[in-house]
Amino acid sequence: MHVLVCGGAGYIGSHTCVALAERGHRVVIADNFSNSAPPVLERLARLTGQAPDARRVDVRNAAALAALFAGHRFDAVIHFAALKAVGESCERPLDYFDNNISGTITLLQAMRAADVRRLVFSSSATVYGEPQSVPIDEDAPLSSTNPYGRTKLVMEQLIGDVCTADPGFQAISLRYFNPVGAHPSGLIGEAPNGVPNNLMPYICQVAAGKRERLQIYGGDWPTVDGTGVRDYIHVMDLAQAHVHALEKLDGVRGHLPLNLGAGRGISVLELLRAFETASGREIPYRIVDRRVGDVAEVYADPSRAERLLGWRTQLDVDAMCRDAWRWQSMNPDGYAET
Ligand SMILES: NC(=O)c1ccc[n+]([C@@H]2O[C@H](COP(=O)([O-])OP(=O)(O)OC[C@H]3O[C@@H](n4cnc5c(N)ncnc54)[C@H](O)[C@@H]3O)[C@@H](O)[C@H]2O)c1
Repeated sequence: MHVLVCGGAGYIGSHTCVALAERGHRVVIADNFSNSAPPVLERLARLTGQAPDARRVDVRNAAALAALFAGHRFDAVIHFAALKAVGESCERPLDYFDNNISGTITLLQAMRAADVRRLVFSSSATVYGEPQSVPIDEDAPLSSTNPYGRTKLVMEQLIGDVCTADPGFQAISLRYFNPVGAHPSGLIGEAPNGVPNNLMPYICQVAAGKRERLQIYGGDWPTVDGTGVRDYIHVMDLAQAHVHALEKLDGVRGHLPLNLGAGRGISVLELLRAFETASGREIPYRIVDRRVGDVAEVYADPSRAERLLGWRTQLDVDAMCRDAWRWQSMNPDGYAET
């Protein structure tokens, strides 16, 4: 298929572009590089044997999108382009509403105008808010606890409404749980700007000596060892799920939300110990107070995605840690040195 990948230069997008190329799909990347760096493109060329077709395009720019659609006959769009930091979204909610929601509206309008009606959308487990029980399936109540989460919820609803209004529109929203890890080559991975928001890149930076110690929020949760439990999924498994979703879109009626997780919870301390084994480094940590709004356990029931996509996770926590550490060791400053 000929696929437009919005936000394809980012962490999950870049891994998905490799998986798409390996399956013989033709990819055009549209990215404004607000949270990624053009040197990733050279890494993609090394991994796929071909320079990627990438354009500096902001998805809020209707004219730029129209020009892109006029120049290609895309079969489908994969939409990763969004701002994603929860804390930042609380400080700059309007930027998040503008980038994520306005960007999605502009993209949907451009798709409709070009008669491209197949979409795979990056959603998130954040749409479940503070879940009442685990494992979480797709019928669990939806809510949001911060502006970032609200944008994901609204974007899903917008896509659902477009599908209802136009029965020819086919969309899958992939609700990721906690993506971690990197390509096993060590050539592409997660390159956060500033202080990492997520646990795994933070652990990587502590292991590399860039940060003194990890802060663990709460050691008295009702979990296996008192620390919070989440559902970590290797980014290579996530990338494969996008390929499956793309190839199954044709059979989808309307808007289909699917959980992407391993279906198994791992505690912060379990992840930390697995990382220490994978890296051979000790990770100093300190347990501090719980954060407001955090919950003890979040993990997916991924059985719907397994059934409908014919996909399931293959890579365990050891592979997640090994690949994350290889990426960190080979690229201590992310893509800056390329
Ligand atoms: N990484 C996670 O933990 C996680 C979890 C759940 C959902 N998601 C969602 O998955 C998607 C990809 O996440 P990621 O971790 O790869 O993030 P990322 O920041 O690495 O990638 C997003 C990419 O989109 C680009 N972008 C942002 N706004 C844009 C715009 N207006 N126009 C064009 N390009 C734009 C950025 O430059 C970046 O390259 C996001 O939508 C995110 O909300 C991520």
